[in-house]
Amino acid sequence: MPSIKIIGQDRILKCAQGENLLQVLKRNGIYADNPCGGRGTCGKCKIRLLRGTAGAWKNGEQDKLAKQEEAIRLSCFCAVEDDIVIELPEQMHYEGLTSADTEVKLLNMKRNHFSYGEMGAAIDLGTTTVAAALVDLASGEETAALSELNCQTIHGLDVLSRITYEKEHGLDGIKELQRLIVSQLEDMICRAFKKTEETSGERGTRKLSRIVVSGNCTMLHMLLGEDAVPIGRAPYKPVFLKEQVVSAGKLGFSFLDAEVICLPCVSAYVGGDVVAGAYVAGMQQTAGNILFIDIGTNGEMLLKTGEKFLSCSCAAGPALEGMNIQNGMRASKGAVEEIITEDGKFRCKTIQGGEPLGICGSGILAAVREFLRTGIVLRSGTILKEESLKENDWRRTYVQREDNRRGIMLASPKIFIAQSDIRQVQLAKGALLSGVHTLFAKSGLAYEACDKVIVAGQFGRHLSEESLIVTGILPKAFQGKVAYAGNTSLEGAKAALLSDEARKVMRVLAETTEYFDLGSTEGYEALFVKSLRFP
Ligand code: FES
Repeated sequence: MPSIKIIGQDRILKCAQGENLLQVLKRNGIYADNPCGGRGTCGKCKIRLLRGTAGAWKNGEQDKLAKQEEAIRLSCFCAVEDDIVIELPEQMHYEGLTSADTEVKLLNMKRNHFSYGEMGAAIDLGTTTVAAALVDLASGEETAALSELNCQTIHGLDVLSRITYEKEHGLDGIKELQRLIVSQLEDMICRAFKKTEETSGERGTRKLSRIVVSGNCTMLHMLLGEDAVPIGRAPYKPVFLKEQVVSAGKLGFSFLDAEVICLPCVSAYVGGDVVAGAYVAGMQQTAGNILFIDIGTNGEMLLKTGEKFLSCSCAAGPALEGMNIQNGMRASKGAVEEIITEDGKFRCKTIQGGEPLGICGSGILAAVREFLRTGIVLRSGTILKEESLKENDWRRTYVQREDNRRGIMLASPKIFIAQSDIRQVQLAKGALLSGVHTLFAKSGLAYEACDKVIVAGQFGRHLSEESLIVTGILPKAFQGKVAYAGNTSLEGAKAALLSDEARKVMRVLAETTEYFDLGSTEGYEALFVKSLRFP
């Protein structure tokens, strides 16, 4: 039975002789980008083969790889014949342990009493990314933090595709999605414990007593093994909305003495992550008209006017997180994060410098911003045709064709922004702007009356106000009012770990926030179409 060792991961995978490598990775919950589903057409499922052989090159595989990509194979073409050692490309890597942010925002709430050695894990369970922080409950100090791609992405990038997976596979599907996320969280918490013990030099003195999970309603259902199918169809009635407390052992964790607390949701599409975020942003304590907007695969927004909270959500898609984009990657080393236009050139700025390996969410948005400013992309979102540009126009060299598709070659050969990528950004823009518009219209509030816009989310903080306004995701009237709150979902989970009073505030927020369904709002479709147009 051949084995597969993956650099940077502890476990070794086993498979049948000749088994397809992409299938083995998927079965083991390891994400390899595969938009074509393994049909061999997208060229995205790359791995680096460091030792062993993975079957002969097959027709079509080499055509999808650039000449200089040494030892790179496409996993859907590979047959595992003997023991191999592979490396996953940068964009698939776990991000590993990140520096801990030790200050937990409790907003003057009373802290519970905990004994020495009691630990808690705060989890931000995102559709795309999972972030975890280990907290010493007695001192309130964060001891380790890490984040990685949600391994359920092998069954779909967004909530609706995972709900479809459940629908198609019934109880087995529900169990499979639960198994994947529980084992991922268990693994992350164990690594955070290991890191904490290494740093402190103390072993075996700590035990996990609480796990608080903040996430959207679908992710929370999938963690608890509840049927998420009703979330995906009208009248969008989840099995639960209220805060849930269950024993960790019941869910399949090995931390038998710990309890798992899932934060309360407002509705099927405004989840515990938004409630946690609104708490951390101190919305219930701050006067004025405040818009809270969490930009992720789902765009969730909440508007406070006086004492009233109104919320809605929209499907923004994963483009602003750098996913579903031809050369998209997560925000890690080598990702293009900013574009500058100077001296008739687009210049790419990458995370930690060096050669661009791909483009992340902030990069794709910055690219669209500069394309609009320079007019290479029209307000309709269409890229100018090469022949419509004069010979001496500097923009002409950028408009190119790849696989017969028009796009803009920002950096050869890696960063090609296809017309379809711009459409993805446009869809996100249309969804978010129409949500903001409807929310303000329902509240009877003019944009100008908005005092503050809080942009939350791990990815949201990298989307500059300039990019958000120039691309029209946010109206111009919000200029100068945008503040960034970071990963408020994780911060809220940390607060709930330490304080039952904070949990109570979140429960009240969830129960009193009014929700409306954008899709069934009169005139929404026309508004969405109108909002697709760039300003
Ligand atoms: Fe598309 Fe391998 S999954 S080429």
